[in-house]
Amino acid sequence: MNLDERLENVSVLGAAGKMGSGIAVLIASEMAKLKIKNPDKLYRLNLIDVNEKVLDGLLAYIKAQITKVAEKSTVFLRSAYADRADLVENREIIDAFVYDAFSLLRPGTDLGAAKNSKVVFEAIIEDENIKAKVLTELNNLCSKDTFFLTNTSSIPIGFLDKRVELSGRLIGYHFYNPPVVQKLVEVITPSTANKELIEFSTELGKRLRKKLVPANDISGFIGNGHFMRDGLHAIGEVEKLKGEHSLPGGIYIMNRVSQDFLIRPMGIFQLIDYVGVDVFQCILNVMRTHLGDESLKSELIDRLVEKKVFGGQRPDGSQKDGFLKYEKNRPVAVYDIEKGEYIAIEENWKENLDSKIGDLPEGFNPWKKLLTDPKKGDKLSSYFENLKKADTLGAELARTYLARSKEIAKELVSSGVAKSEDDVNAVLTNGFYWLYGPINDYI
Ligand SMILES: NC(=O)c1ccc[n+]([C@@H]2O[C@H](COP(=O)([O-])OP(=O)(O)OC[C@H]3O[C@@H](n4cnc5c(N)ncnc54)[C@H](O)[C@@H]3O)[C@@H](O)[C@H]2O)c1
Repeated sequence: MNLDERLENVSVLGAAGKMGSGIAVLIASEMAKLKIKNPDKLYRLNLIDVNEKVLDGLLAYIKAQITKVAEKSTVFLRSAYADRADLVENREIIDAFVYDAFSLLRPGTDLGAAKNSKVVFEAIIEDENIKAKVLTELNNLCSKDTFFLTNTSSIPIGFLDKRVELSGRLIGYHFYNPPVVQKLVEVITPSTANKELIEFSTELGKRLRKKLVPANDISGFIGNGHFMRDGLHAIGEVEKLKGEHSLPGGIYIMNRVSQDFLIRPMGIFQLIDYVGVDVFQCILNVMRTHLGDESLKSELIDRLVEKKVFGGQRPDGSQKDGFLKYEKNRPVAVYDIEKGEYIAIEENWKENLDSKIGDLPEGFNPWKKLLTDPKKGDKLSSYFENLKKADTLGAELARTYLARSKEIAKELVSSGVAKSEDDVNAVLTNGFYWLYGPINDYI
């Protein structure tokens, strides 16, 4: 069965979630293009989610996103719809594509809808018992040549495949958030994976115009393998800083150092909030269990989750409070776990901590400015040369952070998670929007 045939009937599980909804848009667009080419064939994209209420919102999201896809592809669509004399204006062509894409969508809560699917994307909650239960049901329901692509962030694929008895028909296809925008997909291929499935996943990546980076089947893979340990490093530093600067002070310092001194798109605690404090904890738990590594744990994270300080996003995309409190997606306060309340980032409090952190080294440019700068490489080199020499608390914390991040990345290669240093750098620069990979000559 070739790629086009497999794309005749597809299911997305967890379709109303952050990842599932994006995957649904990507696949609906490709299926709609196939439908234009083969108008007599039946195409079905089953959007399955346990939460019926959010499925309505999903359709509105898909409509807006498919419209954007169509607006960017009018030249292609004009030639694809060459036989349709009724489509003259660009608007008519865009509407026709949205209509075609919508006609193949089948939203619902019934897992049974996936019965005839040749490909199933699984993007439900990161819980191995729930994933195994749902995949087992599907294995009993679907034909024995159906391929399963899981978006799991941390659960080993071979382990899940064996538990569900999928006989090599499961592969890790780890899209990054949001899947519609993010170019990166980490592909985790267990040793038992079916050869045709491996070929299919490569071809699908090309069709979706994604950058595929291979990762070995070791819990956390590359992206979370680095992110979890990077986050734990920052938390460890906060523990050391809290005596002198209080816990909220330590969180503020490490968040600023990781964003400004390391020139990353956001501070580490803002990133943990973005992903979700509870999701961070959940991935740590899975990795600790599967790797047997007791260091993959944080008391601070556990306490925040206990207090229901989760972070994550609202359905409209705005940031919920976690380590930090947000107004218009900008941090305005830091959580004080002892008092159970947020401490406002007020002028005096901030100025006092900023003076302890010290000035940014000469040659500093914000991440956003460097992102599109053709001389970014030279500017980063000269900035980091100055960071090496700077005698401030911020520079010292940044140097230790850079060294730890590099060590984590190198360990991902030496322990066999990543096939090469380039692959680790590719995941961090593409998936996390870093300007430079963790394995660099800056430190
Ligand atoms: N959010 C991210 O940044 C990100 C990035 C990469 C991978 N992932 C992984 O993708 C998966 C989904 O994560 P998410 O962030 O989209 O979660 P989410 O909570 O936004 O969405 C999960 C969806 O699954 C649905 N669901 C739960 N149980 C179900 C079941 N039994 N059957 C059908 N639907 C069910 C929920 O109603 C929800 O709509 C997880 O495995 C996660 O680790 C997430």
